[in-house]
Amino acid sequence: MSDPTVVEDAVVVRGVSRTYPGNVVALAGIDLTVSYGETVAITGPSGCGKSTLLHLLAAIDSPTTGSVTVAGRDLAVVRDLGEYRRHQVGLVFQFHNLLPQLTAIANVELPMFGTGKSARQRADRAQLLLDQVDLGDCLHRLPTELSGGERQRVAIARALANEPAILLADEPTGSLDSASTARFLDLLEGLGTSGMTIVMVTHAPEVARHADRIIEMRDGAIVGEGVPQAAAGAGASRSTTGDGFGDGALGRSAL
Ligand SMILES: Nc1ncnc2c1ncn2[C@@H]1O[C@H](COP(=O)(O)OP(=O)(O)OP(=O)(O)O)[C@@H](O)[C@H]1O
Ligand SMILES: [Mg+2]
Repeated sequence: MSDPTVVEDAVVVRGVSRTYPGNVVALAGIDLTVSYGETVAITGPSGCGKSTLLHLLAAIDSPTTGSVTVAGRDLAVVRDLGEYRRHQVGLVFQFHNLLPQLTAIANVELPMFGTGKSARQRADRAQLLLDQVDLGDCLHRLPTELSGGERQRVAIARALANEPAILLADEPTGSLDSASTARFLDLLEGLGTSGMTIVMVTHAPEVARHADRIIEMRDGAIVGEGVPQAAAGAGASRSTTGDGFGDGALGRSAL
């Protein structure tokens, strides 16, 4: 089943469909390849299958037909999907999915349990990540005590907890105001520069513009792709505006 060329690519999706009960066709024959270090933005109208595709990459759902290979591993045959989800991918959900009974710092620490880090190391890293998303003053607040944008930033910090090879983000700026969106884009630049592979879903053109490639979906299929204007020519979209939020400290080399 596995293709000998897959080690060259971070993500290889081949002939993937996903049909939900009731014959709801969410994905209808997707082929997608994402290179290591590439940032891809997926756009398309509501209901076209964007979240479904990300969930397949994160192995929290599985395709009805076809194969999904991430970091050289065919997800259909990965034995320990828990380990895969904890270490290979970081997922920022569309609706952030923080555990409501846990504080911000405890939410970020959660994925680090069982990774061999001491309690102190988990707390230190969670604090560093929350500092980096400007939530250093909100460590001990519950999600209900945070704004929608702040929760989204906790979710971003949580997705990065285990330095994933691939960051999957579903509308990461959906509930951010324009200032927070700008700072998220700085963060994205830093992560991209540090070599992280990023697949994000976004409706926001100013966010998509920061990708290396934009994929357009409609009715469960990929109907087009292109290079954003700013990225055309020598990766111009990688220019750093670093103000500390996006200086790459959250990337793979961070800790
Ligand atoms: N668990 C489910 N059971 C049945 N149908 C589902 C389920 N999840 C999604 N769908 C359907 O699959 C299709 C694709 O849904 P998906 O959530 O992937 O869309 P989307 O592109 O992310 O939309 P949005 O932009 O609104 O978030 C939709 O028609 C949706 O109603
Ligand atoms: Mg969605």
